[in-house]
Amino acid sequence: MSAVRTHLSWPGRSMAEKEVTGPAKGFLEPDLTFDFKSHILIEGDNLDVLKLLLPGLAGKIRIIYIDPPYNTGNRMLYHDRYSSSGGESQSIDRHDNWLSMIFPRLMLAHKFLKRDGVLFVSIDDNEVHHLRALLDEVFGEENFVSMVTWRKKVVRGRGNRHILPQTEYVLIYAREIGSLPPFSEPLTPSMKRDYLHSDHKGPYKKIPFAKSGTRQSPRPNLLYPITAPDGSIIHCPTHQWRWSRETFDRRQDEILIQKNRNGLWTVYTKQYLREEGRERRKTPESYYDRATTTDGTREMKELFGEVLIDFPKPTRLIRDLIGWASPPGSSDTVMDFFAGSGTTGQSLLELNAQDGGVRPVILVQSGNPTPFPDLPTIWSICRERVRRTRERLVQEGHTPLPLREFRLIPP
Ligand SMILES: C[S@@+](CC[C@H](N)C(=O)[O-])C[C@H]1O[C@@H](n2cnc3c(N)ncnc32)[C@H](O)[C@@H]1O
Repeated sequence: MSAVRTHLSWPGRSMAEKEVTGPAKGFLEPDLTFDFKSHILIEGDNLDVLKLLLPGLAGKIRIIYIDPPYNTGNRMLYHDRYSSSGGESQSIDRHDNWLSMIFPRLMLAHKFLKRDGVLFVSIDDNEVHHLRALLDEVFGEENFVSMVTWRKKVVRGRGNRHILPQTEYVLIYAREIGSLPPFSEPLTPSMKRDYLHSDHKGPYKKIPFAKSGTRQSPRPNLLYPITAPDGSIIHCPTHQWRWSRETFDRRQDEILIQKNRNGLWTVYTKQYLREEGRERRKTPESYYDRATTTDGTREMKELFGEVLIDFPKPTRLIRDLIGWASPPGSSDTVMDFFAGSGTTGQSLLELNAQDGGVRPVILVQSGNPTPFPDLPTIWSICRERVRRTRERLVQEGHTPLPLREFRLIPP
């Protein structure tokens, strides 16, 4: 843990701290050893399961995505309200209970991550302020990567009197910011359409060689005359060129000097769509609006014919988040210990099928009861969803990793 600047206090904190080091209650059945070549689904309370997994997996997980209960006070299939109760000397409010629930799990999550590992946490307005303070403390403020705002719905609905809530967040923290590789994602189709020219190295787009924007003090080595094909001299139309004279001379095959619409000589560089055999990618943005909760609900209906749990995350969101941190074709281990209906499982199996990856996923979900006789617990929904996704991918000709199932047996 880094130097602590933020220290959130709440009644129950010291008890929550003790939870981290206390022994796990129960054991896993069957016995679990890791080969990192199969998906692992575990039924049970995540605190005990995490403690049991830690000796074998500390420092070995590349990506953790979690979507904990938001503490909204809504009635859902699982416990989403950490209700108030009178304490001996202080009154414990619902935020205190939520903090006591999440704190030891975040402490443990930190221990599972590799040095280049990263944590993604979904959260909404109810606890985002507490969660961020807690993550600053557990991970260190310097390891904060971003707070992505997700536009989760586009339809109008009933909100409170002042603002209609349409967004929630994904907090992202690195285990060690300097070791976390840059995030990237594929270019959008419209960005690809900009690569309209082509030569022996493939499609490229033209980028003006004169640097845009203004700068108080141009660098002298970036200001020099360039000779046009007709022998005339081109002076830089802005404060400086983008490359030095040496680079300009060395990379002549990437330089284009052409007349623009006004008949003036203009210098461009060629930016190729593929570099070193790989398609160029872009940096993701902190505003995300490519999928909504309606998509998540639709996906659940497609798989089961009905909506079995409220507000499952859309697979596109999870696929994109994991794809930002994990390059195509990778074997990074991913974990979600608030697995719910198994969205992370489906997303990861599909991402692997899409990009040739062999990333194993570890999902943990408790057996909260449901009103559905065929799928009597949320765990059974999660398992069935991952199984069905896997079967479909096999039918489509993919070779997904095998599934292994485990259960926490209470003492
Ligand atoms: C917000 S939901 C996750 C939804 C999931 N991302 C999806 O798309 O379906 C949180 C889940 O965590 C589960 N959960 C809550 N506390 C838990 C615990 N202590 N151990 C295991 N699972 C827990 C709940 O049963 C619930 O299904």
